[in-house]
Amino acid sequence: MSIDYQAKIPNNVDLSNDRALQRALEHWQPAFLDWWKDLGPTTYQGHEVYLRTATSVDAKGWATFGHVKMPDYRWGIFLADKQPDRTIGFGEHAGKPAWQQVPGEYRSTLRRLIVTQGDTEPASVEQQRLLALTAPSLYDMRNLFQVNVEEGRHLWAMVYLLHAYFGRDGREEAEEMLFRHSGDIDNPRILGTFNEPIDDWLSFYMFAYFTDRDGKYQLKSLAESGFDPLARTCSFMLTEEAHHMFVGETGVTRVIKRTLDEMQKLGTDDPETLRKSGVIDLPLIQRYINFWFSSALDLFGAEISSNAATYFANGLKGRPDEGTYEDHDCSTTIEKIETPDGVEEVATRNAMNYITRNAYIRDCDIGVTRWNRLIKKAGFEFQLKLPSERFNRSVGVWTGMNFNTDGKSTSRDAVQSVLPSEADRGYVKSLMVGVTEPGKCANWTSPPDRGINNMPFEFDYVRAA
Ligand SMILES: [Fe+2]
Ligand SMILES: [Fe+2]
Repeated sequence: MSIDYQAKIPNNVDLSNDRALQRALEHWQPAFLDWWKDLGPTTYQGHEVYLRTATSVDAKGWATFGHVKMPDYRWGIFLADKQPDRTIGFGEHAGKPAWQQVPGEYRSTLRRLIVTQGDTEPASVEQQRLLALTAPSLYDMRNLFQVNVEEGRHLWAMVYLLHAYFGRDGREEAEEMLFRHSGDIDNPRILGTFNEPIDDWLSFYMFAYFTDRDGKYQLKSLAESGFDPLARTCSFMLTEEAHHMFVGETGVTRVIKRTLDEMQKLGTDDPETLRKSGVIDLPLIQRYINFWFSSALDLFGAEISSNAATYFANGLKGRPDEGTYEDHDCSTTIEKIETPDGVEEVATRNAMNYITRNAYIRDCDIGVTRWNRLIKKAGFEFQLKLPSERFNRSVGVWTGMNFNTDGKSTSRDAVQSVLPSEADRGYVKSLMVGVTEPGKCANWTSPPDRGINNMPFEFDYVRAA
């Protein structure tokens, strides 16, 4: 179905034919806009930004680009097209028709899954609200805002499901989404990491690379759901999400390139010397990776989880790319999981978080390999790496124990020494200056290889003047 842009709420779900739902969502819309104005980006709300907006959900050309003020962005409800005769792909109900309504017995579980996913979307906007002030270029500022408006749309995606399928409870949950705030002592966001402000750009790139990628894997699992509206919603969110990871990967790449240039020019890898030139030394980048990767692993939940087993058995949440597995029942197989007490044999269904997380780790490694190729090509020995899954964990079997990045037992001090120190964070923050002249870029990073939508780097991505 094509997208109705004439409607107050752009959508491809035929909203105009469901008056009650339309009214409920039109009631929520001003609350959302108030939230965006109060807790979205603190600056540039009145400026024109070169943003892409969904105009159809098929693979080709779903995005149109144009200058628009953020509060005028057309947030709406877009679901991937319905697959005729779709069946449930895994678990106890495998082979039965996918559910078009919420099965009564799974109502509260599905609501919880949707609320938990939905809550992270506005949370990240809140975490990043100050970043535009120190954007290293207009290109970066535009990418930040693109990510922000799309996370706002992802909130819409989840709020639509709550309103359309969960009745009164759903409407209440939708209101709560705007009531909880990142870092609010009384009403924090649901997941811990989403309550920390992100106030430097290296952290933002790391967040987009590691944390958004966790989002990608959660969405991939939910895109397999037997509850069809959830599956279709998440499928379309994934197409938007790809850009967020692009921002993360290229962001880190550009920082590394700039550092390598300076290392070559000065003929040194000495952090102190490099810091005098205002670039970010590679060991510091490694410490940021250690921090962000270990905290992202926590988001997958415990390696051994009866909740995950239930979600799978009930057909609510599958494995990413479920179609690539042979066995979609998983009730008779085991997974070997390393624990502090040795290797444990765990029923596969109970190991779903672990399986999803491993797919995520392989995906994270791709960018790291690319970064290392750049370093090698520049003639330096240094290698970045993902720390061991045991390192610095707060969730799962390795919680609260001290391991180094190779997974060997060590002291708490040794763990701390490979995480960003106060001095590291202070140094990174000291570099943050806003650059608002088109075509110019802060000293600590380098311009991108190409711009957005084939536009040059000098393009006025944000009409900042
Ligand atoms: Fe998102
Ligand atoms: Fe995202």
